[in-house]
Amino acid sequence: MENAYFVTGTDTNVGKTWATIALMQYFQNCGKTVVGMKPVAAGCMMLDGQLKNEDALLIQENGSVWLDYDLINPYAYEQPTSPHIAGFGNPADLSVLAVKFDLLKSQADVVVVEGAGGWYSPLNEQQANSDLAQLLGLPVILVVAIRLGCINHARLTYEAILRSEIKCAGWIAVCTEADLHGEEAIISMIKDCITEPLLGVIPNRTIADFNFFSEQLAL
Ligand SMILES: Nc1ncnc2c1ncn2[C@@H]1O[C@H](COP(=O)(O)OP(=O)(O)O)[C@@H](O)[C@H]1O
Ligand SMILES: [Mg+2]
Repeated sequence: MENAYFVTGTDTNVGKTWATIALMQYFQNCGKTVVGMKPVAAGCMMLDGQLKNEDALLIQENGSVWLDYDLINPYAYEQPTSPHIAGFGNPADLSVLAVKFDLLKSQADVVVVEGAGGWYSPLNEQQANSDLAQLLGLPVILVVAIRLGCINHARLTYEAILRSEIKCAGWIAVCTEADLHGEEAIISMIKDCITEPLLGVIPNRTIADFNFFSEQLAL
């Protein structure tokens, strides 16, 4: 077990947030204190006079210690679009994120960082999630939504992570489809393509049960 992880996915909407909360719960069940981070979030609403994002609020709620929203989500953009567009006028500065990440690290045993979109999704005009994971030096957990097309997406993302020369800690299969034919065979094929371990299979559930999800993981 490491003291921080970067959670990326094969795409947006693949189960990164649900997997992130499950991981946070898992580390807590292991007796660790845990906090999460959503460095850049696009798609926010005004709450208590500041822009807040659903993922980041869930991450804030599920931490072992209550932390300021700004620390968990330093860049909160209103528009639900790519951060390099939504962040016009206030682009994400990765060095600022590195400082905030260090502060978070001092608050708990484990920090789980949820990326925005996929591995090469931009965080600003020049840099992507891959650059942030590299700068923070974090092992990556790849979340794969098990659906048609995911074998291709999983292999492409995995190869890109390897190219970044940072450690891949493993991958998580999230069964986002209720009745997908051949789900197990798909998972098995991805398992053959990724050298690092399958850290867990999160079953399909209409309502998130993070305690149950966390019980499906092993790191
Ligand atoms: N285990 C699951 N079972 C069923 N649906 C899921 C599961 N995990 C995620 N989902 C669905 O996928 C959506 C996107 O998940 P989320 O974790 O927010 O993805 P991301 O963070 O990658 O955008 C959720 O709102 C939910 O509807
Ligand atoms: Mg998310």
